[in-house]
Formats: sequence, C-alpha cells, structure tokens
Amino acid sequence: MRFDFAAGVALAWTLVSPMAYAMAVPRTNSSTNSDSGLLSVLSQAVGDLSVGQKTSDTASSILSLLDNQADTPNSAADVGSVKDAHDKISQVYSSVDKDSDSLLLDLVKGLVEGGLIPLNLVNLLDGYINIDLNSISNNNPAPPSKQDLYPKKRSDDAIYSIPEEKLRAAIHIPDSFACGKNGKKPVILVPGTAVPAGMTYHFSFSQLGKALPKADIVWVNIPRASLNDAQTNAEYVAYAINYISAVSSDSNVAAISWSQGGLDVQWALKYWPSTRDVVEDFIAISPDFHGTDLRSLDCPLLDPLVCTPSIWQQGPETEFIHTLQSDGGNSAYVPTTTVYSTFDEIVQPMSGPNASAILSDIRDIGVTNNHIQTICPNQPAGGVYLHEGVLYNPLAWALAVDALTHDGPGDPSRIDIDTVCGQILAPQLQLDDMLGTEGILLIALVEILTYEPKVGQEPSIAGYAS
Ligand SMILES: *[C@@H]1O[C@H](CO)[C@@H](O)[C@H](O)[C@H]1NC(C)=O
Ligand SMILES: *[C@@H]1O[C@H](CO)[C@@H](O)[C@H](O)[C@H]1NC(C)=O
Repeated sequence: MRFDFAAGVALAWTLVSPMAYAMAVPRTNSSTNSDSGLLSVLSQAVGDLSVGQKTSDTASSILSLLDNQADTPNSAADVGSVKDAHDKISQVYSSVDKDSDSLLLDLVKGLVEGGLIPLNLVNLLDGYINIDLNSISNNNPAPPSKQDLYPKKRSDDAIYSIPEEKLRAAIHIPDSFACGKNGKKPVILVPGTAVPAGMTYHFSFSQLGKALPKADIVWVNIPRASLNDAQTNAEYVAYAINYISAVSSDSNVAAISWSQGGLDVQWALKYWPSTRDVVEDFIAISPDFHGTDLRSLDCPLLDPLVCTPSIWQQGPETEFIHTLQSDGGNSAYVPTTTVYSTFDEIVQPMSGPNASAILSDIRDIGVTNNHIQTICPNQPAGGVYLHEGVLYNPLAWALAVDALTHDGPGDPSRIDIDTVCGQILAPQLQLDDMLGTEGILLIALVEILTYEPKVGQEPSIAGYAS
C-alpha cells in the first residue's frame, strides 16, 4: 500500500488546531504520546518555527525526498545488494558533519536521499504508532500468586514509583513466547532512546530465534519511547525481569539492550538487587554507560529541540551518569557482553580506553567489552556501523548467541572470527532488516520532535539512589 503523501501533507497543513488534529487522527494505545503518523508529524514540523528553522527546513527536504521516491516503485531490491547498502550507509556517514548540532537530522536526510529507506519500509514506519508490537497496554495476567514482586521482591530492592498495572502492561509477550518451557530461555529486549522496543527489534533481535531456537523472545515497550526520566524507564526493566522470570517457572532470563536500554538495565540491576538473582546474561548493544560527548545531543545547548529528560541524563557529566557509575555501578552485576562501534553517531567516544560502552569488572563477575573494529580490523564486520547498525552486525549476533549458550559473557575467542568478520549482516537477517534498522532513525526524529514538554534541567535523582 502506498502512502498518499500529498493528502497527508494537505491534512497536516489544514488542521492547524491541535484539538482538530487529535480528533481527526484516531487515538491508540501506543508506547508514544504522539497522535499521528510519522510523515504527518514531519509535515507539521515544516513551517513550525518553534522547532527551529534548520529542523523545519530539513524536515521539509526529507518529506520531498520521500515524495519523489513515492513516484517510482521502490523496494529493498532497488537498493542493490547488502554490500551496496553498507557502502551507501558508509558514504552517508562520511558526508555528514559530525560536529553539527543537527547531526541526526542530517543523517536521516542522507539515508533518505540515498534511497536507503524504501517505500515499503516508510509505510511500515509511518504507521508504527498503531502497530500492536509497540503497545504499552498489553493485557498480561497477574504473576503467579506465590510471587510477591511488588512493591518489592527483595527487602533491599527500591520501591517502584509506577503502579504495578502500568509496569506489567508495558511488557509485550508475543504469541511465540513459551514461558521458558521446553528448554527455552526467556530473552528480554530492552529499547533505547526515542524508539519503542517493538519497532527497534522488529528488524533485528526479535528474530534471534533463527540463530538460536532456544531464545524465547519478549520485549518491554517503555512509554514515551524511553524519552522520560531514565530512572523510571529502569523501573519498567526491573519489573519486567522479575515478572518474566515469575511467569516462566522462576527460570533465569537474559536481557539484550540497545543504547539507553543498557543504562536502564544496569540501573535496575543496581537498585533492584533481586534482578541480579535471575539475569544470567546481559548483552548491551551500543550502550552509553558513560554518557555521550556528542554536541548534537548536548543539553541545554539545544533546548528546545532535543532536551527530553532521558536525553539530558545521557549527556557528559550528568548526575544520572555519575550516580549510575558510583559505588561499583561502573562494574558488571551479572555476566555482561558489550558490543560497540567507533562510528557511532549518537554515543562518543566509542573506541579506546574511554569508550562510553565499557563496563569494568571489579566483582569478577565476567565482562567482555567488544569493540567491533578491534575484533574485526579492516574486515566487513569491523566497518562503518552506526549506533543502530550494531543491532544487525554479525559479530554482535555471534557474541549474543555465544553468551546465551555458555556460562559467563560472550567470548570472541570461541567464535569463528574469520567467517563472522567476513560478513556484513548477521546471516539470519535480510537486506530489509538492515534498511529497516536504519529507518528507525526516522521514528527517533519524530519522537524527539513531538515529545512534550521539553525540559530545562536534568531530573533529580530518586531518593533511593541519593
Ligand atoms: C486502550 O487501552 C484502554 C485501557 O487500557 C482500553 O480500554 C482500550 O480498549 C484500548 N484501546 C485500544 C484501541 O486498544
Ligand atoms: C581517557 O580519559 C582520561 C581521564 O579523563 C584522560 O586522561 C585520557 O587522556 C583519556 N584517554 C584517551 C585515549 O582519550
């Protein structure tokens, strides 16, 4: 089905009053606070001076690029091979100014310009708010009665600030979930900033079962696409870990995170120690344990464009990062595998001894910090992978499978490095998955633009952590 671009823009332009807009677009239960499709939101940004001239202009050019694209048949096949796509993504990355305060916008524009977000994916992404896999209103049963998960499972757990019903409803349990039966291992997917879990992992780790049939996949749709206070985002993670274990006959679980999800998991492990009892593996893709130095995400400089609570918290030298890192929070609580790339457009630095993704191991629990360019130097899998690209990187997949099939973290020395480093895409994935993963940046852009209210300071640290 083809998105009627002209009609979408006309609709957005004519509906000037927010009330009229809300009435015209059906409200749904999504993980976001937004009331409309992705393209309509972008259309609204055009001419909206409150988002800034540069944002408005770039949104306008992204839309006309997509419009032109709509005139010709366009699918992943037109992009060429996986290698062609990878080369084009590398070219887009090298063409953008890394110091620009509109880096994310410029990158999305470059990807669209390069034809890297084909129409079938644009249509899917456009309707993401209505897609069940992003729902935060899931109808999950109460945990088995012998389990007391709320307000705390262990006496040294923090007390939740969010009602149990909300925490439970955010967990999306797909029909395929087997509650850890038949030798299956629950694997909880935790999203990053600005993209709901369902959409983030649709093109990547929700398909991990193809590489490892025993992976029993489930995910947490943290509300407002994790743009709220990361401390409350972590409550969703802490509860989901204990809930999924409880409904899986107290099975141990694994957590796979992307981006801020890594901080949310680590925060949950730190302040809800009961979760350490059941998390057997923590695999953090592109985590920013030390925050990011990137100017384009540096609050308050860019307020009101990007400063949501969690974006603020992930800047350099924030209270949140400092609190997370203190008292051993910079070290693993459970066996942890981090995977990250030098060419991360969101988190910097991501190489060398100060890489933001690095976790220490003072408690001798078992950590591997896997820098893909170090493990696969000058080889395809060690090439230009962006923040989201690590989600489909073959080494990331091989390490995840290795971690889930051994005690302790993923270990590159157990992997057939010659084969894995020679791949561009995890062999279980298709070109569409690669492009869809890049396409989630469009969602991130829209979620950040529509987040209200933007904040003028970092949220204060919760009582249990200060
Ligand atoms: C949204 O959630 C509310 C309450 O959780 C429910 O009553 C309603 O039916 C849901 N709507 C849709 C469209 O799923
Ligand atoms: C890492 O950080 C330390 C402390 O801030 C600094 O002295 C050192 O130069 C940094 N190393 C690199 C390679 O950037």
